[in-house]
Amino acid sequence: MADPWQEAMDHAVEVARKAGKIIRDALQNEVKIMCKSSSVDLVTKTDQRVEKLIIESVKGRFPKHSFIGEESVAAGQPCILTDNPTWIVDPVDGTTNFVHGFPFVAVSIGFAVNKELEFGVVYSCLEDKMYTGRKGKGAFCDGEKLSVSDQTDIRKTIIISELGSHRDPETVSKVFSTMQKILCIPVHGIRGSGTAATNMCLVASGAVEAFFEIGIHCWDVAAGAVIVQEAGGVLLDVDGGPFDLMSRRMVSANNKTIADRIIKEIEIFPAERDDVPAKK
Ligand code: IPD
Repeated sequence: MADPWQEAMDHAVEVARKAGKIIRDALQNEVKIMCKSSSVDLVTKTDQRVEKLIIESVKGRFPKHSFIGEESVAAGQPCILTDNPTWIVDPVDGTTNFVHGFPFVAVSIGFAVNKELEFGVVYSCLEDKMYTGRKGKGAFCDGEKLSVSDQTDIRKTIIISELGSHRDPETVSKVFSTMQKILCIPVHGIRGSGTAATNMCLVASGAVEAFFEIGIHCWDVAAGAVIVQEAGGVLLDVDGGPFDLMSRRMVSANNKTIADRIIKEIEIFPAERDDVPAKK
């Protein structure tokens, strides 16, 4: 049977490439920064321009589809996943990297139908690597099939974690305490690329065993979630329950043994959700 979402996925790849070119070109020019919710939550003209390009291009082709986009939500649009086919877009994942010229920036496009993720496209545009995952059909990077690491010994792993835009001392200290405990298991190392989507592709590629973060958003992880699962990995909530795209917390790992070992050390379980607006 023909894949009902193949056309949408092909379009996602095409528009992600176009978006990546805009990001590369913008890096050559001056980067204009604005602040989103705090002095560390950055948004640039490029984030907004790229999101507009993606949404307009998708709307032109699939007028009945819905969108959740990082910049649209920041501008007050709702962040609610319905049963309608929905594109979940982070136009520039790694905005802080982009502003500083740190060389990892990704365009992340996830696609869900009936609240189930169907495909994910992550274009790591400075490395020029196109990652794709289609439910039930595997994950690929530039056409090469991806497989997670087969490591089950936590002491032989590299783990990724990041702080995102959290800067309140209590959260920072709990996240660091979790990282410290994991580092002292010991593991081989802790890393971070500065883009959640790329971090997940690194799990899918087998370069690292796991990536966990508290405070991520649905647009950071929607595409990567499909890619990790299709590469044979697992996704869980940080409390060990099922992964919830809207819960702003996630462990992605090569297998459940590694995920469970990380979860044992996590000591922070915030209740914020993307689909519940924060109280002002
Ligand atoms: C951020 C990146 C970063 C992660 C943050 C995200 P943005 O996305 O993915 O790696 O640690 O939590 O907010 O803001 O650059 O799109």
